[in-house]
Amino acid sequence: MAKSKSAYFCQNCGYESPKWLGKCPSCNQWNTFVEELVQKTPASVPDWKNSTPAGRVAKPASIDEIIYAEEARIATRDAEFNRVLGGGIVAGSLVLIGGEPGIGKSTLMLQLALSMKKLRVLYVSGEESEQQIKMRAERLSPSRADREVFILTETSTQNIFKQIELLEPQLVVVDSIQTLYSIHIDSTPGSVSQVRECTAELLRFAKESSTPVFLIGHITKDGAIAGPKILEHMVDTVLQFEGDRHHVYRILRAVKNRFGSASEIGIYEMQGSGLREVSNPSEILLSQRDEQLSGITISAMLEGVRPMLIETQALVSHSAYGTPQRSATGFDTRRMNMLLAVLEKRCGFRLSAKDVFLNIAGGLRVEDPAVDLGIVAAVISSHEDIPVSPKICFAAEVGLSGEIRAVNRIEQRIAEAEKLGFEQIYISKYNRKGLDQSRYVIEIKSVSKIEEVFGGLF
Ligand code: TYD
Ligand code: MG
Repeated sequence: MAKSKSAYFCQNCGYESPKWLGKCPSCNQWNTFVEELVQKTPASVPDWKNSTPAGRVAKPASIDEIIYAEEARIATRDAEFNRVLGGGIVAGSLVLIGGEPGIGKSTLMLQLALSMKKLRVLYVSGEESEQQIKMRAERLSPSRADREVFILTETSTQNIFKQIELLEPQLVVVDSIQTLYSIHIDSTPGSVSQVRECTAELLRFAKESSTPVFLIGHITKDGAIAGPKILEHMVDTVLQFEGDRHHVYRILRAVKNRFGSASEIGIYEMQGSGLREVSNPSEILLSQRDEQLSGITISAMLEGVRPMLIETQALVSHSAYGTPQRSATGFDTRRMNMLLAVLEKRCGFRLSAKDVFLNIAGGLRVEDPAVDLGIVAAVISSHEDIPVSPKICFAAEVGLSGEIRAVNRIEQRIAEAEKLGFEQIYISKYNRKGLDQSRYVIEIKSVSKIEEVFGGLF
């Protein structure tokens, strides 16, 4: 057996160094280097000019003469999942699904495996026992018609490939990549070099056999897929499964997709019997209320390319202490402070002695700047204690000088608001060009300054 040598790997980004370093030169994290054993490979002489390549020699081809066939895709029964993948599972693709522990990755994948009709699926688990998986499967889908799902509890990639050869599955799910180990690498499962080697082996298998492979990967506290970034470069598609664990909504987001758009999202609701697709998110994100309350407004935002209407809630109250409290859930606190400063300086609202709390309903995290105007209106509504009509919604960004700025895909936002029965939508004057009011039932109000909004609202 070849002599093994060791190297130091940054556990955050996978940077390799021959000696220990305190700070990673690649990702600037401190104290992330761990020694790992790697197999010594014989030094090869870089002699690419004289070497004769083995097998087929590739020649440059004119781009106009290249013929391609649409990739064969397997459509799943889960419309949200198909949408995120760009229209189904591509043969031979390697897909990584990342997410925090307990968010529902195993549930999503097992549910997918169980829903595949007339397709042999191998579900490899290094995390749970066969009995545990069976118990979960009973909860998810008691019907056994047409399904061919096999469970393998194994963590050695070599043994997994042996079983794959015998079973010849048409779809493989691995839960999770951090539990696998390959005998070619000496370090422990979950370490950078193991994760990289196991992924490389699965990648070779996927490409050579044209079998799609799904890998589940854990993510670290700061949201990166644990183990190296390298993993993200190796796979074809990276999906992120996210949501607030205390809420029932989950968002499946394509972060990278070689076979489709990376701005698609799928929305699910976690129920007692597994994940349910949510095809019309706005209806559930808006709370059904009869009485009018101050501090609540609706904004038309986009998640990826999907329009949805969400509720923003603000509470402004007298500060009991010298330093007012500012806190936001689901929204960037710095951006909230900026909006409050704009209100104070440009519109003369005395908010510096007030506590301000902000909440995005449904446990969503919003980054779309189009919710700015809705938030500003919610703050003023709570400050003045005057409710905003629930038939009004907002879609505009607020600039530092209090100007109302345009946002992208305004037609989609207006159409969604109209579909849900809103009567008025406030947008920026700069978005108004090219919009034809006669095509909409909803009344489009275009404004250029915050003051104009208040004139109309209160
Ligand atoms: P799980 O898929 O094990 O999460 P992950 O693999 O991402 O760590 O699911 C975790 C949670 O989902 C668990 O806390 C219980 C909940 N859950 C339900 O609410 N309903 C269900 O039908 C199932 C299977 C799980
Ligand atoms: Mg799991």
